[in-house]
Amino acid sequence: MKDSAKGFMGWLDARFPASSFWRNHMTGYYAPKNFNFWYFFGSLALLVLVNQIVTGIWLTMNYEPTASGAFASVEFIMRDVKWGWLIRYLHSTGASAFFVVIYLHMFRGLLYGSYKKPRELIWLFGMAMYLCLMAEAFMGYLLPWGQMSYWGAQVITSLFGAIPYVGEGLLQWLRGDYVVSGATLTRFFALHVIALPLLLIGLVIFHLIALHQVGSNNPDGIEIKDKKDANGVPLDGIPFHPYYTVKDLVGVVVFLIVFCLIVFFMPTAGGMFLEPDNFAAANPLVTPEHIKPVWYFTPYYAMLRAIPDKLFGVVTMAAAIAILFVLPWLDRSPVKSMRYRGVFSKIALTCFALSFIALGYLGWSSVTPLYTFLARVLTVVYFLFFLLMPFYTRYEKTKPVPERVT
Ligand code: HEM
Repeated sequence: MKDSAKGFMGWLDARFPASSFWRNHMTGYYAPKNFNFWYFFGSLALLVLVNQIVTGIWLTMNYEPTASGAFASVEFIMRDVKWGWLIRYLHSTGASAFFVVIYLHMFRGLLYGSYKKPRELIWLFGMAMYLCLMAEAFMGYLLPWGQMSYWGAQVITSLFGAIPYVGEGLLQWLRGDYVVSGATLTRFFALHVIALPLLLIGLVIFHLIALHQVGSNNPDGIEIKDKKDANGVPLDGIPFHPYYTVKDLVGVVVFLIVFCLIVFFMPTAGGMFLEPDNFAAANPLVTPEHIKPVWYFTPYYAMLRAIPDKLFGVVTMAAAIAILFVLPWLDRSPVKSMRYRGVFSKIALTCFALSFIALGYLGWSSVTPLYTFLARVLTVVYFLFFLLMPFYTRYEKTKPVPERVT
């Protein structure tokens, strides 16, 4: 599309770079032509983000962020506010959907080496978003002020108390009180509805600017910008719009079918998305029998519980997340995609993914001696994936990468 000289678009373009923005980032942005279904999850993450923001705004209209009113206001939304139940279920299911989509999006990065040069910064912004998302979900979970909201927040905030010297002070500063209380609720509310969403949106913009600066990777891990025609168009590229906007719509439809099935027919997902304990109001005097976080945190929770020393447990859990930040510099492979890597990379990635899922299951289950033992073994597997990466990626035999995408 040329910048229109006349009409409304002409008027607009003279004042705002609308046509050139559309051209640079949609019709004239060339994406590799071999994207597969793994490439749906970025746009799905955007969709879920919009869902969370829109439903969040409507929930806020009837939610009361006080220890005395929060639980009742959520019940009010569920029973008396018109369509309130739907708005709440869209938001609570959306939170879990966000993590499903993000975990698959991150796994795609591991599968095709999308974090490798020149996309390190895309990955780092992604990791910052992952942290932000975890904080957002954790704080949002306190807001219904149910039993698990309260005790979950009590346990997780208490972890900061394990930090030597400053721990106790830090803990009180975070909670705004000696225990989780109304003061904690109001600050978590402020962070959940405004500070973290703003940060998240800003990071998404940075993530996409960085992506468009270097261009997308693809299942073959080939740089399409290396082979261009006489007009400077990548030979293996196709315009993002209309080709990928239409393709992404297919992903959106499939996603929405599954999402709506959960929202309308099983919104608690058998206690996975909304836990039974959270249908009882918070009671600081009664501790639930099994305190556990929502499923998307349970892999890390399993690591925490597997380690007897509290401080070491907290450090391990933090390290499990932190090590993902340095992934681009641990991977020494000459090729990006798993398609052309050697057998060790394939085994390592499989073990890593399985260990993460199994840890998630263990963190969700009640503690037994066997489960604690398994969690220790799997924590070691999790870390070995990263710590051995500089070696197996460097010395294994890789397959030749084709010149053009397959
Ligand atoms: C709110 C969260 C996020 C949103 C909305 C988002 C959005 C997107 C979009 C739209 C794309 C381009 C389409 C695609 O490749 O699927 C993308 C690419 C990418 N994202 Fe994210 N993302 C998010 C979180 C993350 C996280 C947590 C990571 C990893 C730590 C990550 C790493 C990447 C990488 C490496 C690419 C480039 C992939 C490639 O070219 O092969 N993103 N993201």
